Amino acid sequence: SAPVAQAAQHDEPVVVAHRGASAYAPENTLAAVDKADDLGITWVENDVQRTKDGELVVMHDTNLTRTTNVEDVFPDRAPWKVSDFTLAEIKKLDAGSWFSAEYRNERVPTLEQYLDEVEDNDQRLLLELKAPELYPGIELQTLDELKREGWLNRTHVSRKLIVQSFNADSVRTVHTLRSDVKTGFLGTPAVADLPKYAEFSDQINPNHGSVTPDYVDAVHAVKGVHGKPFELFTWTVNDVSTAARLADMGVDGIITNTPDTVRDATER
Ligand code: G3P
Ligand code: CA
Repeated sequence: SAPVAQAAQHDEPVVVAHRGASAYAPENTLAAVDKADDLGITWVENDVQRTKDGELVVMHDTNLTRTTNVEDVFPDRAPWKVSDFTLAEIKKLDAGSWFSAEYRNERVPTLEQYLDEVEDNDQRLLLELKAPELYPGIELQTLDELKREGWLNRTHVSRKLIVQSFNADSVRTVHTLRSDVKTGFLGTPAVADLPKYAEFSDQINPNHGSVTPDYVDAVHAVKGVHGKPFELFTWTVNDVSTAARLADMGVDGIITNTPDTVRDATER
């Protein structure tokens, strides 16, 4: 019989656990990394910032109020910015109870602890430099930490690590300092501007609301800084029918709080 016309088939997208498996465990904690691992999810995403005394920690918001009990422990320290607290102070905080009692006493991890956990699980890391404009020099400091922890060796750089940011200057700095590290720009640049991002980035990672089939094709038509077509990882996709639609468009990665259901909806 005659072959039936079919839409182009794409490889299934990489599924990335956003802030860990953050629908099921408190975001950006070791518990969320381990939950992703329990679900069989290889890639985790996190957010990196810096304490008052210069330590790298994993935290999304630039203040500590939403995801810790900082207002109870340090009532006089408004507005509770990450950069106004030492690591010793941050380590006193409960980063799990806000999510559920089951995670009471979960701690804010340092980047070092986080890397160790991801490595122990043989997982891979999409590391976001969060608000790097607040933390001068955080690109070099993060790369130094990655190096110390063995994350800049050949295997890690080629298969296990991507560094991304909304801040294009920061992504460019990472590329300039360590040109072998794979990088991503978070946002939806105009198609005409994509060649500029190709000076320092391998990925264009937009909010899923701005992703269309034409945009995916336009991104793939441009080569990133390492000479391969730009990849596109999109966020934050928790709805399975949206995930399936994005997979059909050919996105390369889906960043999600519910990596188990998104994997099931996008498996080929
Ligand atoms: O990985 C992409 C996504 O995390 C970007 O947004 O606010 O969750 O860091 P946000
Ligand atoms: Ca993030």
